[in-house]
Amino acid sequence: MLVAQISDLHISRDSGFLAGRVDPLLCLERAVAHLNRLVPRPDVLLISGDLTEHGGADEYARILELLSALQMPAYAVPGNHDSAAMMRDCLPLQVPAREPGHASFVIEGAGLRIVGLDTSVEGKAYGALCADRLEWLEHALAGRSGGPALVFMHHPPFDTGIEAMDRCGLLHGRERFGEIIQSHGAVAGVVCGHVHRPIQTTLGGVPVHVASSVAHQIALDLNRDARLAYCLEPGRVSLHRCLPGVPMVSHSSYIRDFPGPFEF
Ligand SMILES: [Fe+2]
Repeated sequence: MLVAQISDLHISRDSGFLAGRVDPLLCLERAVAHLNRLVPRPDVLLISGDLTEHGGADEYARILELLSALQMPAYAVPGNHDSAAMMRDCLPLQVPAREPGHASFVIEGAGLRIVGLDTSVEGKAYGALCADRLEWLEHALAGRSGGPALVFMHHPPFDTGIEAMDRCGLLHGRERFGEIIQSHGAVAGVVCGHVHRPIQTTLGGVPVHVASSVAHQIALDLNRDARLAYCLEPGRVSLHRCLPGVPMVSHSSYIRDFPGPFEF
């Protein structure tokens, strides 16, 4: 199964977002066009949070308009800039959550169980997995020892070295999350957003991928106490190849046009 991922759209009602340097609507429109041009076409698109800047119904309505052109099904989890409740109301097909306390859900694809895990905490930038959500995750993964599963969520479950982002990362439930992922034995990968940069690591032997933003990127600065800044590196779509019995293989595809490909 070929799984596409985009993240951190930050669709905003503000005109002149980030001093007018970034047009999130145009970025999403280009990302959708890019996804539709991919060959082979991904089976599904996952959107790993921060769909909006303010969590407003008007912002989700703009996203729905643009996603209507998408030629594959899409699913989304909330980020810290979203309102989980508003997302569930405005995007019921993309957020098919049934739990009362969080917007997590399971999708059964062709040979792949996709688990959308809500790490958002209302009113907070950081993420957390309380006992309820961790127990829900265990149940969501149960019974899949023979087939692969993919978990997608907003806050990465590890420190990236970009300290300002790590301070608002997944601050609670991280250790237990790692235990659940490792002990399951058939989690092909974990994919996240939040950091606005492409980053890879492993957790309990499972590949973990952080996707770029399709809008603005966080400037890469691994110095201690670096000040948080953004930059206009081109956005990317992540593509995850998920096959039975092997770890997820992740690719990144720049959304911006460039020369090539040329035959050797
Ligand atoms: Fe974001």
